[in-house]
Amino acid sequence: MKRRVAILISGRGSNMAALIKAAALEDYPAKIALVISNRADAAGLEKAATGGIATVLVESRPFGKDRAAFEAELQRVLDQHGIELICLAGFMRLFTAGFVQRWHGRMLNIHPSLLPSFPGLDPHGQALRAGVKISGATVHFVIPETDAGPILMQGAVAVSDHDTEETLAERVLEVEHRIYPDALRLLAEGGVRLEDGVCKTATGAGSGNFLISPLAG
Ligand code: GRF
Repeated sequence: MKRRVAILISGRGSNMAALIKAAALEDYPAKIALVISNRADAAGLEKAATGGIATVLVESRPFGKDRAAFEAELQRVLDQHGIELICLAGFMRLFTAGFVQRWHGRMLNIHPSLLPSFPGLDPHGQALRAGVKISGATVHFVIPETDAGPILMQGAVAVSDHDTEETLAERVLEVEHRIYPDALRLLAEGGVRLEDGVCKTATGAGSGNFLISPLAG
């Protein structure tokens, strides 16, 4: 049985689109059963609907600072659709510890840096200012702390001296679109376990290639 997944978005939804595309494959172990946006103007909503995916708008603004009330409505919609796993994909709203606890081990997020480096806003600016030579993206389980939690998968890119925030973001986004579907696949097929706050996977190993940046010549 395919696991029923909801993707939560607030914006353009390119990671959402990558997940939907991957899940369209017959052997993929998860079904994107629902896309929820907390913003009416999220471009991803229309993309999802065009792709034949059920969409629901649960606007957060009317709830103001009452996060628990917003989450109660979110939970009602998730229950209504029999959702088992959540993927946050550019979802710009923080959760209460209670909601996060309820979805412990079943809610993923993607962040465009190699966590624990550069959490929060402007990760690419942070990376460039730090002068790192390698950056990337991280899929992790959600815990109450923002952009933290057991790391399921990471993908890396070389950072060049000529990179701007825009060019780096573009390259990292390509990695995001590759690793998010792979990470969800692992989780949905049960190839992931949490041990003392660390995520271990069935495959347990990377691609085996070095990524060196910059090259000496
Ligand atoms: C991505 O860079 C993701 O890592 C971050 O927000 C951005 C969302 O982009 N959390 P998109 O809506 O998936 O195109």
